[in-house]
Amino acid sequence: MRLAKRVSGIAPSATLEITARAKKMAKEGRDIVNFGAGEPDFDTPDHIKDEAIKAIKEGFTKYTPSSGIPELKSAIAQKFKRDNGVDYSPSQIVVSNGAKHALYNILQTICESGDEVIIPSPYWLSYPEMVRMAGAKAIFIKTKIGNNFKADEKELASKITGRTRALILNSPSNPTGSVYNMDELKAIARLGVKYKFFVISDEIYEKLIYDENKHISIASLGKDIYDLTITVNGVSKSYSMTGWRIGYAAGPKEVMDAVANLQSHSTSNPSSIGQKAALAALTGDHACVEKMKAEFEKRRAFMNMRLRMKRAWR
Ligand SMILES: Cc1ncc(COP(=O)(O)O)c(C=O)c1O
Repeated sequence: MRLAKRVSGIAPSATLEITARAKKMAKEGRDIVNFGAGEPDFDTPDHIKDEAIKAIKEGFTKYTPSSGIPELKSAIAQKFKRDNGVDYSPSQIVVSNGAKHALYNILQTICESGDEVIIPSPYWLSYPEMVRMAGAKAIFIKTKIGNNFKADEKELASKITGRTRALILNSPSNPTGSVYNMDELKAIARLGVKYKFFVISDEIYEKLIYDENKHISIASLGKDIYDLTITVNGVSKSYSMTGWRIGYAAGPKEVMDAVANLQSHSTSNPSSIGQKAALAALTGDHACVEKMKAEFEKRRAFMNMRLRMKRAWR
């Protein structure tokens, strides 16, 4: 059968495949520790679920504005200000069906065939496939363990060409856990501004950060880089809401208007109920996030200790 070129070369999501297999094995009674999808093994907190149930009961079950309900966009704008020190107006924000959808929309919006998108490697598996679906070419920076798997200024500069359209920056990173510090982000910002490429800053793991690391949004580093950055985030990881499918992006108004247009003709609004739940998550008590993080921290310490022991035995 003839399929469109756009999809025939696309690899299925290995992460989702591994996750499905792990879930099946666990159901069969096997003792499985699943390192597939980045999915917190906590239930969505009750105060979030309650708002969703209320939304259903009150009949908030119809189409909403395609790019998201105004209350949620306002809450997202406040979150950016409060947590990241970045000013976005609600008109610069689009709510989508997860951060994955937001990233897909952005790449479809800014890339043309022949464009190049730089991705530090190791990377989250969906990035290169999304770049390809947008007709562009993924250019990888092979990062090194000695540099904590971060792309430095020299490595990034060596990959920039006249066709560079964007860099996908994922800090904190999946899968490496690396967190870019202020100096490293400033160096990336300098190159972005000098060579005029977009920085797609995927900050979905911002709340799951440990030790002395601090999350910094590259868009907060000044007007020049702010104008070139599209910041992506969502509620999946921070609030254990992977199944609700709510993510969001914010950036230059012209780009985000086009993203909203694209979404209005493809998926329309993300679920009305999910949006109410996300609103409760962003505006509600954040003790649930800290509780989850404390548990992850314990497991992280345990795993670190065991890996070090294993290394010592060799
Ligand atoms: C780095 C990264 N970005 C984005 C996503 C997408 O998150 P979601 O679509 O659930 O909001 C994931 C999910 O695993 C991820 O690991």
